[in-house]
Amino acid sequence: MTDLLAKFDSIRAEYDFLKGTGLSDPFGVVMERVLSPTRAIIRGRETILVGTYNYMGMTFDPDVIAAGKAAMDTFGAGSTGSRVLNGTFATHVAVEQALKDFYGTSSAIVFSTGYQANLGMVSTLAGKDDVILLDADSHASIYDGCKLGHAEVVRFRHNDAADLEKRLRRVPAGKGKLVILEGVYSMLGDVAPLRDLVAVSKAAGAMVLVDEAHAMGFFGPHGRGVYEEQGLEDQVDFVVGTFSKSVGTVGGFAVSNHPHFEILRLVCNPYRFTASLPPVVAASAEASIRKLMTATDKRARLWAASRRLHASLKGAGFRMATETPESAIIAVLMPTQEECVIMWSALLDQGIYCNLSRPPATPMGVYLLRCSLSSEHSLDDVDEITRRFVAARAATQALAA
Ligand SMILES: Cc1ncc(COP(=O)(O)O)c(C=O)c1O
Repeated sequence: MTDLLAKFDSIRAEYDFLKGTGLSDPFGVVMERVLSPTRAIIRGRETILVGTYNYMGMTFDPDVIAAGKAAMDTFGAGSTGSRVLNGTFATHVAVEQALKDFYGTSSAIVFSTGYQANLGMVSTLAGKDDVILLDADSHASIYDGCKLGHAEVVRFRHNDAADLEKRLRRVPAGKGKLVILEGVYSMLGDVAPLRDLVAVSKAAGAMVLVDEAHAMGFFGPHGRGVYEEQGLEDQVDFVVGTFSKSVGTVGGFAVSNHPHFEILRLVCNPYRFTASLPPVVAASAEASIRKLMTATDKRARLWAASRRLHASLKGAGFRMATETPESAIIAVLMPTQEECVIMWSALLDQGIYCNLSRPPATPMGVYLLRCSLSSEHSLDDVDEITRRFVAARAATQALAA
């Protein structure tokens, strides 16, 4: 018998070595209690959370919680079925209406996760006679959507409109073309030059899908995303998003003004061959999305905190992944995986939780201490985070000396 798990021996050895060093396990953190969008008890200690996607702090919003509780009482704990059979409840229709209102689109389709939204949209839109052109730094769910579908897949250099244009020119005439972009790239927190990328896509007759997972709520006048901020609402064909970040719960979606968008419900496997979201989640998401429509003070606080953290970490001598703060993801570059893990562990000892990011999530050779902020972080919190980063660095340098 061939041991099918043997192919993972090298990664297992690396992980075992890490756990044997006495450092904390960056992939085994347990939130023992969650106190607020910015605080949790980890290893018995109150910890500042700087590595969640709770951008708008909606997880503890009283209206969001109340809507979920009411739906639990009315509809029960789960839907026990697909959206196209018994799994569409009034809550699912209501959250899709909230999305249409939020994005100003004629259609919205809700999936059970953002991952599934990309899996479904990418694999279903582009068929065997079509070509997908995707940014090299695309999220794993986009790559997996390509693997699930039958289209030819062409990668272009990250955020490079000239490279995209060149590759679009090489697509044989008559083929359908789908260009896939993201508003904010989740690892480095950089914003895409969508205006240029969409212009070359449209000139070549391609349809465009933009994943705005990390921009919803705080980019653009209505919080729709980077495509709204860059004035591209009439040119982007499909927008994908998630409830797991700014909305503060779980689920995914796609919105569009395409007149035949609704047909996807009948042909998209990651939509129709899985159970729908629990009604409690759909109801919480609806309440959250409706509140995000007017959350201008939260947007302002999130931007203020993001700018301050970038400036203070940079001022303290850390190497930042972006020259300026482009989004609520403020990532610190570490020279090696080893230094990244040691510093991450020292930060946890200081009561700071951020994400440790490494390949394959990041581009090759990139190791990050990835911070992401919430509107609920105060400026004092931000200063405290920086102080603890400096203290953690001092502790690791003392160890190395
Ligand atoms: C750009 C992007 N798209 C999609 C997803 C998947 O979202 P979800 O967590 O809802 O499955 C993520 C998750 O991190 C993401 O970063």
